[in-house]
Amino acid sequence: MKHLLKMLDLSTEEIIEILNLADQLKYELKHGIPHPRLQGKTLGMIFQKASTRTRVSFETGMYQLGGYPLFLSSNDLQIGRGEPVQDTARVLSRYLDGIMIRTFEQKEVEDLAKYGNIPIINGLTDFCHPCQVLADLMTIREFKGSFDGKKMCFIGDGNNMANSLIVGCLKVGMEVAIACPDDYQPPKEILDFAAGYGDKFTMTNVPLEAAKDCDVLITDVWASMGQEGEAEKRKQAFAGYQINDELMAVAKADAMVLHCLPAHREEEITEKVFEAHANEIFEEAENRLHAQKAVMVKLMA
Ligand code: CP
Ligand code: NVA
Repeated sequence: MKHLLKMLDLSTEEIIEILNLADQLKYELKHGIPHPRLQGKTLGMIFQKASTRTRVSFETGMYQLGGYPLFLSSNDLQIGRGEPVQDTARVLSRYLDGIMIRTFEQKEVEDLAKYGNIPIINGLTDFCHPCQVLADLMTIREFKGSFDGKKMCFIGDGNNMANSLIVGCLKVGMEVAIACPDDYQPPKEILDFAAGYGDKFTMTNVPLEAAKDCDVLITDVWASMGQEGEAEKRKQAFAGYQINDELMAVAKADAMVLHCLPAHREEEITEKVFEAHANEIFEEAENRLHAQKAVMVKLMA
């Protein structure tokens, strides 16, 4: 494993190795056991979109590993003024030991990996959010004990979160059901991948069908970063695609709820369900730190 560009690139074994290391690093942190596995290493963090969790968890995680995180806003980099990614990649490869990038196009992340010669970590693109889904898988395993026989249901937009969840959950052996409006299905690349898993993957436009007997319910915002201009149109398209009491009633009685955050209460999830499952949702947010530390150690140590 040289980079973390998308879940599609990872084998099941690589995912499980990352999760196991993440559990260990979480244990070490909680027990005050130092783990300076990236001493002397520098991670550049390029953000072309806003972030609370990704920025703070990567930055803190790098410190905890004994390394140095360097925040690089695209407003300040020449990349924001049009310097080609091919050149940026080759320059930064000479200063840094790894790059985390949050941007719009997946191609930009793939190009950084292609032209540079240091590990690249995708901190979210319009196509996928692998760091978040590794933390989600870590949280599911923590609360449910294992992935065996477990069903994940995603409700809402066929977006970056849906894409990574579909791939990640299928790869670790879970059953996956998604409910999204017909005009907001995941891209063909993801649906083709999922088709290879036969009846372990189902897609519908009826949330109550997808949520039936599931162990984990997940949703995400109706309008992602960059889609603010379509917010009103999307509110109409996604009405009814909400995690609420009615949906919880058809899931397993002990079903857990996850949300990558930020959440919009009374849109994709009700305040009541959100607060009833806040314990899981904020453990999920914490696990970003541990999962990403594991990724950095795997790629940069
Ligand atoms: N879930 C997530 O990636 O959060 P941020 O946008 O705050 O980084
Ligand atoms: N789908 C959301 C996820 C935010 C973490 C977005 O891209 O804005």
